Amino acid sequence: MVNVAIDGVVQEAQPDELLIDLINRSGVSVSHVCYHPQLGPIQTCDTCMVEVNGRLVRACATEVADGMRISTKSAKASAAQVEAFDRILSNHLLYCTVCDNNNGNCTVHNTTKLLAIEHQRIPFHSKPYEVDNTNPFYRYDPNQCILCGRCVEACQNVEVNETLSINWEDPNPRVLWDGGSTIGESSCVSCGHCVTVCPCNALMEKTMLGHAGFLTSLKKSALSGMIEVVKGVEPETGYGSILQVSEAEEAMREHRIRKTKTVCTYCGVGCSFDVWTKDRHILKVAPEHGPANGISTCVKGKFGWGHINSEDRLTTPLIRDGDRFRQASWDEALSLVAGRLSEIKANDGPDSLAFISSSKCTNEESYLMQKLARAVIGTNNVDNCSRYCQSPATQGLFRTVGYGGDSGSISDMEKADLVLIIGSNTAESHPVIATRVKSAHKLDGQKLIVSDLREHEMARRADLFLHPKSGTDLFWLNAISRYLLDNNLAHTKFLDQWVNGLDDYQKSLEPFTMEAAARISGVPEETLKTVAHMIADAKAMCILWAMGVTQHTQGSDTSTAISNLLLVTGNYMRPGTGAYPLRGHNNVQGASDHGSMPNMLPGYQSLNDPEVRQRFEAGWKVKLPSTRGLDNHQMVEAIQAGKLKAMYLIGEEMSIVDSNANYVGDAFARLDFFVVQDIFFSNTCRYADVVLPGAPSLEKEGTFTSTERRIQRLYQVLEPLEGCKPDWKITQGIANQLGAGWHYQHPSEVMDEIASLTPMFAGVNYERLAGYKSLQWPVAADGTDEPLLYTKRFAFPDGKARLFPVSWIGPTDQPDSEFDLHLNNGRLLEHFHEGNLTYRTEGIREKTPDTFVEVSPKLAEERGIQSGTWVQLVSRYGQVRVRALVTDRVQGRELYMPMNSVESPVNRLTSSHTDPVTNTPAYKETSIHMNVLAEVGESPLPRINSRFGHPTPQNGVEIERKWKRPDYAPPGNGLVQLQTKQ
Ligand code: SF4
Ligand code: SF4
Ligand code: SF4
Ligand code: FES
Repeated sequence: MVNVAIDGVVQEAQPDELLIDLINRSGVSVSHVCYHPQLGPIQTCDTCMVEVNGRLVRACATEVADGMRISTKSAKASAAQVEAFDRILSNHLLYCTVCDNNNGNCTVHNTTKLLAIEHQRIPFHSKPYEVDNTNPFYRYDPNQCILCGRCVEACQNVEVNETLSINWEDPNPRVLWDGGSTIGESSCVSCGHCVTVCPCNALMEKTMLGHAGFLTSLKKSALSGMIEVVKGVEPETGYGSILQVSEAEEAMREHRIRKTKTVCTYCGVGCSFDVWTKDRHILKVAPEHGPANGISTCVKGKFGWGHINSEDRLTTPLIRDGDRFRQASWDEALSLVAGRLSEIKANDGPDSLAFISSSKCTNEESYLMQKLARAVIGTNNVDNCSRYCQSPATQGLFRTVGYGGDSGSISDMEKADLVLIIGSNTAESHPVIATRVKSAHKLDGQKLIVSDLREHEMARRADLFLHPKSGTDLFWLNAISRYLLDNNLAHTKFLDQWVNGLDDYQKSLEPFTMEAAARISGVPEETLKTVAHMIADAKAMCILWAMGVTQHTQGSDTSTAISNLLLVTGNYMRPGTGAYPLRGHNNVQGASDHGSMPNMLPGYQSLNDPEVRQRFEAGWKVKLPSTRGLDNHQMVEAIQAGKLKAMYLIGEEMSIVDSNANYVGDAFARLDFFVVQDIFFSNTCRYADVVLPGAPSLEKEGTFTSTERRIQRLYQVLEPLEGCKPDWKITQGIANQLGAGWHYQHPSEVMDEIASLTPMFAGVNYERLAGYKSLQWPVAADGTDEPLLYTKRFAFPDGKARLFPVSWIGPTDQPDSEFDLHLNNGRLLEHFHEGNLTYRTEGIREKTPDTFVEVSPKLAEERGIQSGTWVQLVSRYGQVRVRALVTDRVQGRELYMPMNSVESPVNRLTSSHTDPVTNTPAYKETSIHMNVLAEVGESPLPRINSRFGHPTPQNGVEIERKWKRPDYAPPGNGLVQLQTKQ
C-alpha cells in the first residue's frame, strides 16, 4: 500500500490502482465522462483532469504512486475540467426533460450538474448525419453523440465483434458501423454492449424510446418544439433551472419504472441484469453488476424477451377432448392430473409413470419435480435434458476428478495462457464466455486452439484450427497424451503427487500413436505435434468443450480423454486451468444438481447409499424407491414397449429436441396419459392430455445454476400473466392433490430444505444470494464456496485424481453410397434451441427468420446449389425440406443444420444411437442423402443478418488519432501526460 493525499486528505491506495478509482473510492466527486471501470481508461473526454504534484493529468489514465499530492479542485484542474466538458456539450443538446435517458444515470446530465455549468462557451453544432434506425433493437443519434468512444471500446475489446470505430480524421467525427455501413447491414450482432455503456442518449434501446419519460411519447413535432423552448430559455436562465425541471420529471419516473434483478433465461453462461419495466412493458435490460457478465450480454439476453408478452402465451389449462382441446379451470385440470396419475399408479405400479423436469425452470422447481416422482409417486423415473447434451461431460469428470461441473470460473478461462476449444461453437452458443476468450486472445496474448468441423468465429480467430473427421476427437486427444508422456513433456511431479492410475492408463494408450491419430482423424501428424508442444509449453491451460464432443457415441469417453489430458499436463488445481464443459441451457446444471436424474438424489448423492436414502426418507417422511429409474431415452423405449403409461413433462420441447423425433412423437402418441406444462402450446403439447400454463423466468422467484456452478437468484420482474402459475406452485398443487401435504410459501423454503439434505448445498440460502450475490458450489455450511475446485484435493476419498483409460470404438451412422453426406447440427447465436422463445422476438425473426442447411461451396458447385435452393434431406430415420446456405464455414461433404426450427427440425433426421454410458443421443452422427429440388427461393439469411457484415478490427477507440487532429489541444495548461491505454 502507498500513501497519497487527495485534496489534502491522506489516503491509502494500491500502487497500481488508477487514480480515478481511488478518487471515486474516497468519495471525492470528480467529473469523468468516458471512463467506465469495466472498460478501463479510454481518454477521449479529458473531463477527469486533476493536478498531481502541480501538473495536470488525466485521473483515469494515471496510476497511483507513493507520495502523490492530488488536487481535484484547484483552479487549474477545475478550469481544465470545465473546458473539456464544454467541448462535450458542443456535441450534445441538453433536452433532458423530454429525453428518455433522463433516469438519474445520464452522465452528461450529471456532469453538467456536478461542474455547475450554467452556459456553454462553445455552442452546440449538429452533425451532418441522420439518425440510424436500421437495427431492430437500438438506434444511434449522431447529433447527441459526445464521441466518448465507450461504445467503440466495448465493441472492439469487450464484445470483440469489432464493428465500431470513430472516424477521428473526419471534420465531423461520428461512430461508424463496419467503417460506414448502416447499422442494419453491418456485422453488428446486437449484443447491446455499446448501448449499455453509452453515457447519454446517443445509443438507446428502441423499447425505451417514447416510453421511459412522461413527455417523451409526444409527436416528433411537439418534441422538437419543446426542445426549441429549452434552447430558447437557456441563455437567460442557465442550465441550473432547466436541470431542476428535468430532475422533477426524473423523480416522477422513479415511481413507475421498476428495476428488478433477474438471471438470463437462455444459455448456461449465467448473465444477470436489471430489467426495467413500466407496467408489463419491458423498457430495457441493464447489465452491470452480474458476477459472470458485468456489462456483457448477447442479443438474446439483451433484447430477446418478446415471448414474455406474446399473445401466444398459454393462459388457461387445456384438457384433451377427442382431437381437440378445451379450456378448463385449474381445479378441474389438477384433479384430472392427480386422478389419472393415481389410477395408473394403482393399476400398473409407480414405475409406469415418468417425470421430466425442465432445464429452463429453477433449481427449486427441479427439486420439487424429483421429490414428486420419488416421494409422492414412488418412482425414480425422473430426468432432465442434460441427458441430451451434458451427461457425458459430467461422466468424464466423475470418472477422473470427482465433481461433475466446470472446474473453475469464467475468470479462469480469461487467465489461461492457452485455451483449447473442442466441439463448441462458443461465440454463438455461449456468447459472453466467448467474449472473454476473444478479448484475452486479442489483448493479452492468450493462445487459442480450436478443433471443430466448422470454421466458425472462434476457429477463424484461433492460432491453430484443427478439422478432424467427425467423431474422432478421442483418438487424437489420447495420442497427444501418449506423445507427451513418451517425450517427457508430461507434468510428472503433478502426476506423482495428485494422480492415481498412471500405469494402466499408459498401457491403454498403446494404440494411440501420432501416426494412427493422423490416419484416423485426418489431422496431419505435424499439426498434432504442434498442438502437443503448445500444450506442454502453456503454463496454464483450460479446455472448453460442448455438444460437438458429447453428442457422439463416445461422448463420455471423449470427455474422459479431455480430463485425462488435463491431468497428464497438470492443468488442474490452479487459476487459469481446468475442464469446462459448457452447459447449454440456463439451468441445465441445476436441474441435475437438484436430483432430476434417475440414479442420483440431489447433490449427486447416490440412490444406492442407504445412509443417503435414510436422510431423505427422514426429511420427506416417506419410504423411497431404491432401484435406479429410467432416463429420458429409456422412457421413450419403455413407452414403445408398452411399459410406461403416463408422463408429466415440464418445459421441454421433447418431441423436437430429442433425437429421432418421429420415433419420440410416435411414443408420445401411445401414452395413456400425458401432462405437458409450458408457456406456449409447443409441438409436444399436441400429444398431451392435459396442458398446464407455467410462467417464464421473469414471472417467478428462484435460483438458476450456471455453467460455472454459480447459483444466482432471480427476482419476480412481473406478475404471472393472469391464468398462469409459477411452475413450483403447479407441481406443489399436483403433489397436494395426491395427498403430499406440501406447504411451501416461497422458493426460499424449498432451498432451505435442499440445503438441509444436501451437503453440497449446505450453506446455500436466499440471504447469501441476495441481489447480485452468488455462490459457486460446493457451499459449506458457513457459506464458503469454491469458485475454483480442487485447490486442496480432488473429490475422491483419497484426495487424488484418477486417470481413466478409454479405448476407441469409432462413430456410428457413417456415410455410405446411399447416405453419402455427413450432417452436423447445433445452435445459432440469435435463436435458442428450437426457437420457441426467440421466434417470439420480432427483431430476431427479422434478422434470422428460419433454419437452413449450410453447404460448402465445393458441394454446392458439384450439385448446382445456390443460397436459397430448396433441398430435401433424407436420413435413415426421416426427412426435412430446407433452404441451402452456401458458405465456407463448412467443408467438402459436411453439412450443418441449425436446430432452430419446429417445422423442419433436424431431429427428424437424427438416430436413436446413443453413448452407451449415459444414453445421450449421438446427434452428431447422422448421414444423409440430399435431393436438390427445382425451387429456388431467397437466401434463408437476409442481407441484414450480421454474418454478411465486414468488421473493422482495431485496438479500441485509437485515441491517438484524435490527439493528432490539428484542432485538438489538451484542455488547460501544463498537461504532461498523453498515455496510451494501460
Ligand atoms: S456488436 Fe453491435 S450491439 Fe454489440 S457492441 Fe458492437 S455495435 Fe454494439
Ligand atoms: S454513441 Fe458511443 S461515442 Fe457516442 S456518446 Fe454513446 S458511447 Fe459515446
Ligand atoms: S443467452 Fe447466455 S450469453 Fe446471452 S445474455 Fe443470456 S446467459 Fe448471457
Ligand atoms: S474520464 Fe475521460 S479522459 Fe478520463
